[in-house]
Amino acid sequence: MSENLMDKVVSLCKRRGFIFQSSEIYGGLSNTWDYGPFGVELKNNLKRAWWRSSVHEREDIFGMDAAILMHPKAWEASGHVKNFFDLKSDCKSCKKRFKTADLKDKAKCPECAGLLTEARPFNLMFATHQGPVEEEGNLIYLRPETAQGMFVNFLNILDSRHPKLPFGLAQIGKAFRNEITPGNFTFRTREFEQMEIEYFTHPSNADKTLEEWIDYRFSWYLGLGMKNENLRKRPHSNDELAHYAKACTDIEYNFPFGWSELEGIANRTDFDLKQHSEVSGKDMRYFDDATKERFYPYIIEPSGGVDRSVLAFLVDAYHEEKVKDDLRVVLRLHNDLAPTKAAVLPLLRNRPEIVELAKKISGDLKKSFVCAYDDTGAIGKLYRRQDEVGTIYCVTVDVQSLEDKQVTVRDRDTMLQERISIEKLKEYLIEKLETVL
Ligand code: GAP
Repeated sequence: MSENLMDKVVSLCKRRGFIFQSSEIYGGLSNTWDYGPFGVELKNNLKRAWWRSSVHEREDIFGMDAAILMHPKAWEASGHVKNFFDLKSDCKSCKKRFKTADLKDKAKCPECAGLLTEARPFNLMFATHQGPVEEEGNLIYLRPETAQGMFVNFLNILDSRHPKLPFGLAQIGKAFRNEITPGNFTFRTREFEQMEIEYFTHPSNADKTLEEWIDYRFSWYLGLGMKNENLRKRPHSNDELAHYAKACTDIEYNFPFGWSELEGIANRTDFDLKQHSEVSGKDMRYFDDATKERFYPYIIEPSGGVDRSVLAFLVDAYHEEKVKDDLRVVLRLHNDLAPTKAAVLPLLRNRPEIVELAKKISGDLKKSFVCAYDDTGAIGKLYRRQDEVGTIYCVTVDVQSLEDKQVTVRDRDTMLQERISIEKLKEYLIEKLETVL
């Protein structure tokens, strides 16, 4: 894959309304992105697919939605106040700031060859103040991971749902990190969304459970159509483990800018529950009725990025092919992910009976799945437009439809066309889509 592919995806995202630069009319806020009409559908579909596989299809996981703002002590207990930093080096000449780990020469600026300062720690948490008075007692953080919102609710879940080990909590939500070097479009940003599972298990099962989760999560990407050759597992070496982890394996995607992390699956041991017990003074141990053992469960954590996944699925689905003298761009997104499942297109937009019938059909389909109606161009152009945003089926209404009550259904990937009766159309499409709509 080439850098060129990345440019094409970024350009398609802007041109077709997937992703825009934030506050563009003001010159843009760097490395911050807004999801447009197709982007938000894709992102919601991805989150829905994750939630289905992580919560609804399992008996052992409960969903949650914790607040972004948490008691500041939670971040002391978690170790983020003390340990969540990157080393930065500043150029004394051009004043640019670099992540020290990214520098080949730790003394010389890679941009202007000026002298760099000593590496200094830089905490990645965004801090602000709660309430009208800015004083130290009001210091509060935007969460840098959603995980802690689940750990601090561990006792609430035990008391309200009485689960037996092993069980997990899952949530999707925004996280914030004041990254020194964000970049590569939506890959590394300061505001992003995570989808995280915290899976509590007996310490003796932790190693096996970690392996099971690595496989389960890897298959999730494959199940949504991601190409096997673009995915790999990479175990962390000891020196790159986070302060809370005993082991971690990343699922990486072969992005146009190189293999990079999509998701990390870590063994967080009993670090978090122990820490929160100690700092809050609440006993967060689990009591096993059968063995009469009281202990801190270990936590296995599959932690993925929503924005990174969206980007990987976009890159993976991007496809170009020559059709006669034309270049056809198609987003071959999985049925569950495609923002629009079908589009109804009148072949002749100046024939009111055809337009009326097409609108009636799309109005009816809209009640069952996301369906578009478009009459703003010639049919060839309308097809191309739908291909570019990944619409799975195009339904064309023509003169003959008025008589034989049939429409033409065109498949996005094969471009094969079939005549289907209007009466059976919805049933036909639902069966073909094979998705939970
Ligand atoms: N709770 C564990 C945790 O937060 P992480 O590896 O730091 O672990 C998990 O983050 C996932 O969150 C990453 O695999 C990535 O997909 C996403 N992520 C992390 N930082 C990000 C950033 N600055 N921009 C976009 N996504 C990010």
